[in-house]
Amino acid sequence: MDFQTGWRSGHGNMNHAPRHLFLFVTLAFVSFSFAGFVHGEEVSDAKPLAVVIGKQIFLDSTLSQPVGQGCFSCHRAETAFADSRPISPGAVKGRVGRRNSPSLMYAALIPGFAYEDVQTDDGTEVYAWEGGLFHDGRAGDLFEQVQQPFFDPNEMNLPDEETLASRLRDSEYAAEFRQWVGDEIWRDDQRLNYHAFRALVEFLKEPIFRPFDARIDDYLNGKAALTQAELRGLEIFRGAGKCADCHLLQPSSWAGPLLSDYGYDNLGVPSRGKKDAGLGGQTGEAAELGQFRAPSLRNIVLTAPYMHNGSIKTLKEVLEFYNRRDVEPERWGHTDYPVTVNREDMGDLKLTEQQVSDLLALMNAFTDRTLLNRKDTDDFPATTNETPSTDELRLYFPDWTHRKHPAYPGKCDPPSSLSRNAAES
Ligand code: HEC
Ligand code: HEC
Repeated sequence: MDFQTGWRSGHGNMNHAPRHLFLFVTLAFVSFSFAGFVHGEEVSDAKPLAVVIGKQIFLDSTLSQPVGQGCFSCHRAETAFADSRPISPGAVKGRVGRRNSPSLMYAALIPGFAYEDVQTDDGTEVYAWEGGLFHDGRAGDLFEQVQQPFFDPNEMNLPDEETLASRLRDSEYAAEFRQWVGDEIWRDDQRLNYHAFRALVEFLKEPIFRPFDARIDDYLNGKAALTQAELRGLEIFRGAGKCADCHLLQPSSWAGPLLSDYGYDNLGVPSRGKKDAGLGGQTGEAAELGQFRAPSLRNIVLTAPYMHNGSIKTLKEVLEFYNRRDVEPERWGHTDYPVTVNREDMGDLKLTEQQVSDLLALMNAFTDRTLLNRKDTDDFPATTNETPSTDELRLYFPDWTHRKHPAYPGKCDPPSSLSRNAAES
């Protein structure tokens, strides 16, 4: 689609220069976050209008064609904003995609798609793809990602940008939206949509999506928060299971662990029919066929079924798959790209049943308290006061939504102090 290539242009050359800046702020952030957050001036509770509008777009089911589907249809709070269906049906009856809907918790913290140099165990330097949104990284960052569900024929199925803009103008939050962007932008399809995408990104950056308040966070902050079984599980996670090699336990860019390095691998998961080329489909590299991005394991007990295609039903089975994939191949059936399957790090871990059940126990410690405490009647979990606001962390978000775009040249957004209250008064 034309508009997508338009938005994407210039992405490639954004990767280099800012990378150093990102590393630098990353380090600064890690050190100050452990000293406890230094709250400067008290920030008011009023949300920037972008967030208010982003939330309403997220919950809006009148934007799809036919109407009836919104982001929240496939990203629900009770499953940590994933979907309990292996593959979510689209707005058009009978149409389905081919992948499992991932959790949106921490999605705004996924680094941009980039070719990175990584050190292997023996010290050699190799280059590999990392980050990016979607299971195959095809969206360079969150700003690119949020545009796509609207126009995906297997999702919200809008025919073009004009239709999206006109539906936004008819929405229940039209008055607020117009107040945020002003009359000139309100009348311009492309610039109006641009702001809708910006608003969604701002919403997904909200503290409710990144509380870092699971028991594993408490434990890593020095508290006695894990049971004996969980502690044994942690030892396997770091050791014999090799899990922590890819699902990183140490905080890197953020205050808490994201439980992923966002690298790509082919685990050889059971096929669901039509082949899915994953990363290789994006890069055209044969060695990358069937590779998918390692997801965060935060809130993993809430997000069944598992893997990019939803092919494994329970967490226990996932662990059995890691442990015995190559010992009992008939149990798992064929996989899309057998040649590129990672047979070094998994598949025959030789863990005992007790060890597998300890690992399973550990996964419970990855669930954020705010999600556990959410009331069934609430669309979203409550915000914790300890989680810093987006404004406080603006520099640390790995997206480039402020980049210039032909539809919106020059100026940046209205000042973030334009809060709901300020607009109402
Ligand atoms: C029909 C179900 C459906 C709808 C509606 C939907 N999504 Fe998704 N979402 C998915 C699936 C499936 C994927 C994974 C697709 C892939 O990897 O190819 C996904 C991926 C994502 C991701 C990437 C997460 C990651 O870890 O890479 C984000 C962010 C996201 N969706 C946000 C949204 C937003 C915002 C909306 C509304 C504008 C939305 N989704 C609407 C099913 C849906
Ligand atoms: C070499 C890197 C690597 C290692 C080691 C690894 N994983 Fe993974 N993990 C991945 C990748 C990549 C995926 C996504 C695969 C896919 O969707 O096809 C994944 C997916 C998962 C999932 C499913 C997540 C979801 O949301 O569907 C779970 C659970 C999981 N891993 C747990 C573990 C555990 C437990 C261990 C240790 C026994 C482990 N992983 C070791 C890379 C790794």
